[in-house]
Amino acid sequence: MLSMAVLLAALGVFAHLGTFTHGCQLPSEWRPLSEGCRAELAEIIVYARVLAIHREPPGGGAGSLYNSLPFGFGYGYEGAEEGLLYSAEVEMLCDQAWGSMLEVPTGSRLNLTGLGYLSCQSHTVMENYSYFFFLRMDENYNILPHGVNFQDAIFPDTSDNRRMFSSLFQFSNCTQGSQPFHTFSPEWDNQEDSRLLCSSVQAALFEEEERGRKMQERLAAAERRNRQLKERVRKAKRSLRNARKAARKAQQEAQELQEKLKAAERRVGHHLNAITQEEPPPGRYASTTLRKRMQL
Ligand SMILES: *[C@@H]1O[C@H](CO)[C@@H](O)[C@H](O)[C@H]1NC(C)=O
Ligand SMILES: *[C@@H]1O[C@H](CO)[C@@H](O)[C@H](O)[C@H]1NC(C)=O
Ligand SMILES: *[C@@H]1O[C@H](CO)[C@@H](O)[C@H](O)[C@H]1NC(C)=O
Repeated sequence: MLSMAVLLAALGVFAHLGTFTHGCQLPSEWRPLSEGCRAELAEIIVYARVLAIHREPPGGGAGSLYNSLPFGFGYGYEGAEEGLLYSAEVEMLCDQAWGSMLEVPTGSRLNLTGLGYLSCQSHTVMENYSYFFFLRMDENYNILPHGVNFQDAIFPDTSDNRRMFSSLFQFSNCTQGSQPFHTFSPEWDNQEDSRLLCSSVQAALFEEEERGRKMQERLAAAERRNRQLKERVRKAKRSLRNARKAARKAQQEAQELQEKLKAAERRVGHHLNAITQEEPPPGRYASTTLRKRMQL
């Protein structure tokens, strides 16, 4: 009985995993991007603490989160069922220095929506923990995780992640609470360098991919032509083979006819011989009588 329950639970879990992974169809040219590169593309980056988790209102009316998800229900959101999405109320600990669209002071409270288990990427948080968030704002001013390149948008507060994102908060005014990023100042220069490198590396990578794609297209076209040519050669060979076969057959028929003809001639010859032996033709008969008469 217990094993049955365990089995059913396992099946249930797999069924759920199935709904999460099913339908995650990334574009074929998709490549993972580094955190640094995605940080350059993220609209808003904040460091914030989760105060509370709120379930999304089921069903969702017009203007709800369901209508404001990126790409409709494509790419990652089609697996999101009712109740799997939730929002989180966070306290802003630090906003990005420049370029942030948010511009709310430290200590402000915000509701982030669009969190939950999705088919390609999951944006999940736990109460009372701090995270680095890549965020974006939709047209209804909902603040959502910004899954740049369909990758993680929420990063736990580990020392590695602090090191990675410290330069983003280098000049921000996070005077309240802890100032976790200033301890990593020696790394900033390196980070700045790598961030500058990132876009050029990225551009080179895209160019390389584009070139590769074009070459592949050319190769495919060449292969197609080659296949067509082979097909034509095969057809030509086949008709040549057919022609040879027909010629051989005609020759054979001619030979057979010739043999038949010879046989017929032979038969006619025999017949004539037989006739001359049994009953000399009148001409010959006449000539012998003539000869006999002349001898007389
Ligand atoms: C966040 O959403 C919850 C539930 O909808 C609400 O009770 C709370 O006041 C909201 N907080 C802010 C800061 O908007
Ligand atoms: C979060 O912290 C508050 C206050 O310290 C506490 O009451 C609450 O139970 C904590 N929640 C979780 C999920 O640990
Ligand atoms: C930084 O924050 C403090 C207090 O929160 C404020 O007085 C100060 O004007 C802020 N500085 C800038 C440049 O925003």
